[in-house]
Amino acid sequence: MDFEKKLNGYISSVNEFLKGCAAVSETAQKVLFEAMNYSLTAGGKRIRPVLTLSVCDMLGGDMKDALLFGCAIECIHTYSLIHDDLPCMDNDSLRRGRPTCHIAYGEANALLAGDGLLNTAFELMSDSSRYSSVDFEKAVNIIQIVSSASGKYGMIGGQVIDLESENKDDISADELINMHRLKTGAIIRAAALVGAVIGGADSVQTEKIIEFSENLGLAFQVKDDILDVLGSEELLGKPIGSDMESGKRTFVSVLGLEKSKETLKRLTEEAKKPLETFGERAEFLLEFTDYLTERQN
Ligand code: IPE
Ligand code: IPE
Ligand code: MG
Ligand code: MG
Ligand code: MG
Repeated sequence: MDFEKKLNGYISSVNEFLKGCAAVSETAQKVLFEAMNYSLTAGGKRIRPVLTLSVCDMLGGDMKDALLFGCAIECIHTYSLIHDDLPCMDNDSLRRGRPTCHIAYGEANALLAGDGLLNTAFELMSDSSRYSSVDFEKAVNIIQIVSSASGKYGMIGGQVIDLESENKDDISADELINMHRLKTGAIIRAAALVGAVIGGADSVQTEKIIEFSENLGLAFQVKDDILDVLGSEELLGKPIGSDMESGKRTFVSVLGLEKSKETLKRLTEEAKKPLETFGERAEFLLEFTDYLTERQN
């Protein structure tokens, strides 16, 4: 298997699909489309839809459906980034190599562009005319997975904990892990689980995919924390040192750099272990896990 070729193939199909999700139209609310489109098409690694696609692919499921739901998840993720960068949250001015949405379009439009992308995700997921193999019951199940992962027990909940923990001295490793699981892990877990549902995974396979994605999601945020210290702004497309500047509690600030690197290594191995069940079919996901651990962006 040519890993890069496969990865780039998934990413191109995602980028192609997303082009149509917020295409600018000559309406009175044109600026909303522009702001949504600006953030959605700015690039980004697309790791969440790639997870949905590759898990589904591994199971031999319908890729057209995986693309639709994976891209809906990417719309939610992009909205979370727009809001995360706002002055009332992380107050960052660079994202995906461009000025953040609120710098380009103003705070109010950025807020609404985020809201617009969140709603776009649900418009896509509830549009049954687009499905090929997902029945009504499965679609509702997927919508439930995605909405709960994005909400108060998932990403939004984690973001609140993140903001509350700023400058707190007494945050424990367990609290930190809980915050990361919610703010970042939950949507990554959902992206993989949706791929499993579309691919028709049985209960054992589903359990293994969940175990894989929970470790991967946590590892992903640990790496994000490390890159905030060791990364390069040019490669990352977002500012370095932003966490320290705003007094964030991160893996690096709580455990130190060396322990964070050890944790990343351990989580990577723990993510890969459950994939053994799938034998050779897991080749892409195994390489993808290493790719995310070693990434510089
Ligand atoms: C950044 O996510 C925010 C986190 C959850 C750590 P990504 O690193 O996936 O950002 P993009 O989508 O590639 O821009
Ligand atoms: C963000 O975590 C998680 C989200 C839900 C968007 P960070 O605040 O660490 O993400 P970056 O570093 O700004 O991308
Ligand atoms: Mg943040
Ligand atoms: Mg941030
Ligand atoms: Mg970060």
